[in-house]
Amino acid sequence: MGDVSSGGDLPESDDAHAAALYLIGSGSFAVEVADWARDAGWEVAGLVELRDASRVGTRIGGHLVVAADALPAGAMAVVAAGGSRREHWSAVAGGGCGAATVVHPRAHASPSARLGAGCVVAPGAVIGAATVVGEHVLVSRGALVGHHSELGAFVSLLPGANVAGHVVLGEDTTVGMSATIVDHTTVGAGATIAAGSVVLRDVGDRTRVQGVPAREYAP
Ligand SMILES: CC(C)(COP(=O)(O)OP(=O)(O)OC[C@H]1O[C@@H](n2cnc3c(N)ncnc32)[C@H](O)[C@@H]1OP(=O)(O)O)[C@@H](O)C(=O)NCCC(=O)NCCS
Repeated sequence: MGDVSSGGDLPESDDAHAAALYLIGSGSFAVEVADWARDAGWEVAGLVELRDASRVGTRIGGHLVVAADALPAGAMAVVAAGGSRREHWSAVAGGGCGAATVVHPRAHASPSARLGAGCVVAPGAVIGAATVVGEHVLVSRGALVGHHSELGAFVSLLPGANVAGHVVLGEDTTVGMSATIVDHTTVGAGATIAAGSVVLRDVGDRTRVQGVPAREYAP
């Protein structure tokens, strides 16, 4: 894993919190992440539109929508759109953006947890002791990550996901709302865990599972 920093009760106490932050995405989720970022002490400078040029220059949720190529050199940014977090980040990374880490003040990250750059940790999220969270991971509202787990880069934990201790989640995996992953389980890269699933056994790379107990299915 690349750039990591210590967790804790409060947002990272680096100088970046006085800096402007661009959110990658201009949909409804970006508006929500903007609230979290402001609560965490960031000044939201704009929402970055990646697909629909007609939105550029408008305001959404009170925030100015800007084009990806309009970001100032060295701007700090974080992914704030659904879908592939890796693809969204790739769309701006070439422009020299810095990856911000946004931790809501009402989240709790163990002091012994490590968060990668680009993570978004939402209100009510809890990250346990000695857990390693890769770069650009989303830990959404009320999602729980137990102790000694490892989350690969670009993982998305959707609201209320409950990941136990000693779990390994491969890069780019999505865990749907309120899904549960029991302890000592490994989920491969690019997997999809459907909302409400209960994962009792290891899940392979790029595998989609659903149900209780979770079983593989073909979309
Ligand atoms: C799994 C998921 C990604 C959809 O995958 P998909 O492959 O497009 O699934 P489809 O909608 O085509 O449904 C395929 C089948 O799976 C079933 N299914 C879909 N989601 C399911 C779920 N969470 N649990 C159980 N079954 C589910 C459907 O009923 C359908 O069954 P059928 O073929 O018998 O009719 C989606 O349902 C899901 O759980 N997304 C996460 C949503 C979420 O957490 N959102 C948070 C927003 S903040």
